[in-house]
Amino acid sequence: MVSDLSPIDTAKFVSAKRALDFVESGMRLGLGTGSTAAWMVRILGEMVRNEGLKVVGVPTSERTADLARQCGIKVATLDEVKWLDLTIDGADEFDANLNLIKGGGGALLMEKIVATASDQMVVITDISKEVETLGAFPLPVEVISSGWETTKALTEEALMNIDVMGRSGTLRMDRDRPFVTDEGNYILDFHLRRIGEPRKLSLVLNQIPGVVENGLFLDICDTVVIGYGDGNVEVRDINAGTVEHERIDVIERDNLFMDITD
Ligand code: 5RP
Repeated sequence: MVSDLSPIDTAKFVSAKRALDFVESGMRLGLGTGSTAAWMVRILGEMVRNEGLKVVGVPTSERTADLARQCGIKVATLDEVKWLDLTIDGADEFDANLNLIKGGGGALLMEKIVATASDQMVVITDISKEVETLGAFPLPVEVISSGWETTKALTEEALMNIDVMGRSGTLRMDRDRPFVTDEGNYILDFHLRRIGEPRKLSLVLNQIPGVVENGLFLDICDTVVIGYGDGNVEVRDINAGTVEHERIDVIERDNLFMDITD
């Protein structure tokens, strides 16, 4: 049966599927969070169940851990595994240098720790996430819940000395309550519109008391796999300086196409 996925889901599916070509048996894998990463976990689970692929997955969130277990993937913590061969994760924005904004799904802290503890990070995404300059997507900043309003005010003040076009932060909500991360923190989303100095911004943010981590992933991503709605993928490798194009078949299999809720 040929898929009747929407173009956006096709794009996510084919990027996830192509990224799994980087996986080899015996690898320790960082498993990202989000709707694109959920496709990746589903397809990886199928490879484990049907092809005998042996991997250990370190999930970047509780929801990815639940999904990975459901899919039959062996799950471990980073403390157990210590270092990873490869992390595959989504992104909210990426630029030509493969610098990223992440954290739209609220998992940026573990995502950054896990990706940084990996030999290689492959980002799976669709072309709508590509930007010339980071910042159109509000930058998520994870903060300690106690004193978050002071942290927000300090951050907005610090932003006065950075090349950005907006400074306002909003507390991320989950219906009528603050959104709480897996680590028990809050997220402030900063509407910067254009981030002219991502390195400086990242350093400044992480020096503010109350800030735990920010969603800028700089010099962490090695490869981006961009999916398109027609089933084509583009693989950009920042280290090799290569760009490859390929077409991926999307064939529906019942167990893969159920319950992608992320
Ligand atoms: C979660 C993330 C996600 O990778 C990012 O939000 C992209 O998600 P999606 O694949 O659903 O578009 O950073 O914290």
